[in-house]
Amino acid sequence: MGNILEIKNLSYKVEDKEILKHINLQVESGEYLTFVGPSGSGKSTLMRIVASMLTATSGDVIFDGMSIKDYEPIKYRQRVSYAFQQPTLFGKTVKDNLEFPFLVRNQEYDQKKAISALEMVNLDESYINKSVNDISGGEKQRIALLRNLLFRPEILITDEVTTGLDTENKEIVHQMLERFNKEDKMTILRVTHDESEIERAAKKITIKDGEII
Ligand SMILES: Nc1ncnc2c1ncn2[C@@H]1O[C@H](COP(=O)(O)OP(=O)(O)OP(=O)(O)O)[C@@H](O)[C@H]1O
Ligand SMILES: [Mg+2]
Repeated sequence: MGNILEIKNLSYKVEDKEILKHINLQVESGEYLTFVGPSGSGKSTLMRIVASMLTATSGDVIFDGMSIKDYEPIKYRQRVSYAFQQPTLFGKTVKDNLEFPFLVRNQEYDQKKAISALEMVNLDESYINKSVNDISGGEKQRIALLRNLLFRPEILITDEVTTGLDTENKEIVHQMLERFNKEDKMTILRVTHDESEIERAAKKITIKDGEII
């Protein structure tokens, strides 16, 4: 299979600080890559650039044969979806969050689909009408991740999304992502500090001081 993503000589500077330095990377369609490296090394910054939430100072990102600069950002983010490090839920209820992916696609909200998504991450349908203020941190993380997954992106970027989950729920998330990777050929770029995730990772990329080493 061909490259779904190519990062070409990408740098990112804030004032005089070089946060990313000449990053080059090719990602094949269907790969599951794990990004590791010290805190502050630039992992999230790189992911945010790939997700079109931040613009590189120089260099380019090619997705599906075209520079990300030439995509319409809202459409692009449906194909390359970034699951935030420390997500926040919005609106009043869990439903407000699960409805959002339908709204941005001008589709009618499908409650059945929302409930089966909740069940994928070990949450039952009673969560739909819960207030975002009345759920735990780990529940929030899983619900936020569903916003990325209700409609499957071609590339999913997960930025430390299992931090703070207990072993059981970590395993549920791992198996779900593994299944999407294998069955749906979803390309996954995962950032993690989790020892067991790093140990089990098929392909690791280390970022240190803004460089791939
Ligand atoms: N807008 C900004 N202005 C100034 N510095 C920034 C900005 N955004 C990020 N940085 C700095 O860039 C560096 C890389 O940050 P980044 O969040 O990418 O690190 P990270 O590898 O994801 O770290 P962690 O593992 O802790 O999440 C850090 O030193 C951070 O302080
Ligand atoms: Mg980070």
